[in-house]
Amino acid sequence: MDKLVIEGGIKLKGEVTVSGSKNAVLPILAATLLTDEPCIIRNAPALRDTNTMLKILRSLGKNAEFDKGIVFISSTKHANFIADYKLVSTMRASFCVLGPMLAKLKKAKVSLPGGCIIGVRPVDLHLKGIKSLGADITVESGYVLAKANYLKGNYVYLGGVYGSSVLATDNVMMAATLARGRTVIESAACEPEVADLAEFLIKMGAKIKGHGTPTIEIEGVKQLRGAEHTIIPDRIEAGTMMLAALITKGDITIKNIRFEHLGALIDKLDEAGASVMKTDSSIRMRLKNKLNAINVTTLPYPGFPTDMQAQIMSLMSVTPGISVITEKIYPDRFMHVAELNRMGARIQREGPHAIVEGVKQLSGAPVMASDLRASACLVLAGLVASGKNSVSRIYHLERGYENIEEKLRGLGAKIWREKE
Ligand code: UD1
Repeated sequence: MDKLVIEGGIKLKGEVTVSGSKNAVLPILAATLLTDEPCIIRNAPALRDTNTMLKILRSLGKNAEFDKGIVFISSTKHANFIADYKLVSTMRASFCVLGPMLAKLKKAKVSLPGGCIIGVRPVDLHLKGIKSLGADITVESGYVLAKANYLKGNYVYLGGVYGSSVLATDNVMMAATLARGRTVIESAACEPEVADLAEFLIKMGAKIKGHGTPTIEIEGVKQLRGAEHTIIPDRIEAGTMMLAALITKGDITIKNIRFEHLGALIDKLDEAGASVMKTDSSIRMRLKNKLNAINVTTLPYPGFPTDMQAQIMSLMSVTPGISVITEKIYPDRFMHVAELNRMGARIQREGPHAIVEGVKQLSGAPVMASDLRASACLVLAGLVASGKNSVSRIYHLERGYENIEEKLRGLGAKIWREKE
């Protein structure tokens, strides 16, 4: 296993280009199961999670090639309807093969994804939605078995205890494209990645309206065709790079972004003292004067993303004053607190809140990544800490950040990989 070693204290400067969105490419790849025709997906990020989804598609009877950011998908004659535990358990997004497989093959057997370090993460909303389209669902030996001779459009309310669900919206929307009649999803997730999936489905011939809003309407069609699509930029990678600029008091121009996807984050960074210069598809990020403590609450889109919570905590840990960070999506997503404290941060957890008292300096220490975004938080902390910092278990980072070391090195960071 590899670890990342970082020598902190360098102001990062220069330009960096953001890769395609992880959370958009995964359901879009799953959507190719809705057709027998070939599909081409561009701007796909080379990530461990992308490869996992390609393996799942192959196991379900697709040919899947990935070359220089382009995925080519075509069908073999052997469609399989069982998504195996070994693959699904490594990545929760795999569960969104359920909707398209059921719609296309009339049956699907998909392993339950299980919990993960950031919380219990149930799939009740996925199952409720698919059931209301008329599927017969049973759960047996860790697998969900869904059957339906045909799916029937319906009114589906997808609000849960913590708000809307991104992948449940994806799953139900995909299933509904081939259902008979009209489906209305209420309390649908509004994330740009859901809207990107809808755009791809529309290119495949689906009839969808209202994506990007809490009410999505889908008029079922008989069949879908192959399509080409370019994945939107990864707003979480863009946000992480913005924080790299601020935490190192550097000056970074981040290219290939969609400004409109970053509203809540930019608003908070502005409050924290950032100077934000916007051009067509890039943003220049640096510090105006000094950093200010801020309070942040994570919420479903367009609120502040939970996937940026750990990274903003790194920034606040070296910002004078007290910041309160409240996690409303995954109340247990605080594994990074103890690791940041090992580097000298002063953070106290109180239920879904983290109270952060900014310190003058973090110090490098061996720390352990617990999940994808916590890894990014520890890398950011390492960029500003004194001495050497090493982050182990970086396979988490490889799940969601394409070439992160090369990109940071290109901005002047001293960061390299070593065997543990
Ligand atoms: C997606 C993202 C993930 C992000 C999360 C929240 C992908 C591949 N992953 O995950 O990066 O952190 O959205 O923005 O897009 N819930 C239920 N029942 C369900 C489903 C979800 O109670 O059936 C709860 C979850 O436990 C959580 C909340 O709803 O508290 C939101 O989760 P959800 O939007 O479903 O997350 P994912 O789609 O799994």
